[in-house]
Amino acid sequence: MKRVVVFESLHPDGLAELRQTCEVVVHLDTPRAQTLELVGHADAIVVRSVTQVDRELIDRSPDLRAIGRAGTGTDNIDLAYAKHRGIEVITVPDGNAVSVAEFTVLQMLALCRQAHAIADAIKAGDFRRDRYQGCELSSQTVGIIGMGRIGQLVAQRLRPFGCRLLGYDINQALRPQCAELGVAWADSLAELLKAADMVTLHVPKTDATTGMIGRRELALTKPGVRFINTSRGGIIVEAELLKAVERGHVAGAAIDVLTNEPPFYAPPEAVSYSNPLLGHPKIVITPHCAASTEEAQRAIALQLVKVITGFLNARKQATPRTTTTASGKQR
Ligand code: MLT
Repeated sequence: MKRVVVFESLHPDGLAELRQTCEVVVHLDTPRAQTLELVGHADAIVVRSVTQVDRELIDRSPDLRAIGRAGTGTDNIDLAYAKHRGIEVITVPDGNAVSVAEFTVLQMLALCRQAHAIADAIKAGDFRRDRYQGCELSSQTVGIIGMGRIGQLVAQRLRPFGCRLLGYDINQALRPQCAELGVAWADSLAELLKAADMVTLHVPKTDATTGMIGRRELALTKPGVRFINTSRGGIIVEAELLKAVERGHVAGAAIDVLTNEPPFYAPPEAVSYSNPLLGHPKIVITPHCAASTEEAQRAIALQLVKVITGFLNARKQATPRTTTTASGKQR
C-alpha cells in the first residue's frame, strides 16, 4: 500500500477516500524536524500553504512521487526541484475561487461599515451607534489587482452593488474579459492605486509580486483608501501598511494572509505568535481562511485525492505533468 502523509487539513471525505487505497497518516502543525523525518517514508504528501516543500524536504524523501497541494498557490513548493526529481505536483487551482471571492466581498462590506469594530464594541457593552458612520460599497471605486479567475469572480459579485470597477493585470490578454465584466482597465498599477477607494489583491506570490504594495505604492493611494488581501502574505509590506494606517492615510485593511503565519492547528494556549498588525483596531486579521468553506474544501479534497490515487496506483509511472482543475481538466 502506498503511504501518504497529510501535513495540513484535508476535508474528511477526501481523507476517507484516500484511506480506501493508501495508508494515510495525518500530522498537522508538525515541527520542521519531524516533517523532514516523516517525508522519508512517504510516497506522496498533502500540503496547503504552510508546509515549505523546499529542496531540503524533497531531498529527505527518496520515495516521494507526488506532492498534493490542496488549493491553488504553489509558492511554498520548489516546483523546479520537484520537476528535476521527477515528482508530480498536483494542485487544484480554481477549486476555492468562489469561496475566496465571496470572502473578499464580505471583508469589503465589513470594512465599509466597520462591522468588526461594532461587534467588538457590542460585546463590551458599548452601543454608541454614532461612532460607526460607514460608507456604501456602491459609492466606492474598487481596484482589483490581478484579473485572473478570482479577480474576475470578485468583479462579477461587485457589479450588482454598482461600484466603479478598475482592474490591473500584467496579462494584457485579460482586457476583453474585463471589459465584458464592466471593469475598466488600468494601464499601470499606479493608475489603479491613484483612483481606487478600495484595493483588493488577487495575484500569486512570485518574485515580481512580493512587496508589490510598499511605501512608494501606498503614497500613491487616496487618503482613506482601504485594502483587502486574500492572496498571499508579503505582497503588501506589512510594516509600511501599519505605518500608513497609523498615519490615518489608510482607513482600514482586511488581511487574511501574513508574511509569517501563525500555526493554524494548535489551540491558543499552545501558540506564541506576535505580529504588530494584530493589535490595530483598523486592521482586521483573519487566519488564511478565505478558502475555508465546506464546498471548496470538500471539492478540493476529493479532486486532489482522485488524482493522487490515480497517479500512485497507476501501473506505469507517468512523466510529471500535473495541474488539475476542480473540474478534472488537466492543464
Ligand atoms: C490557496 O492557495 O488555495 C489558498 O491560499 C488556500 C489555502 O491553501 O489554504
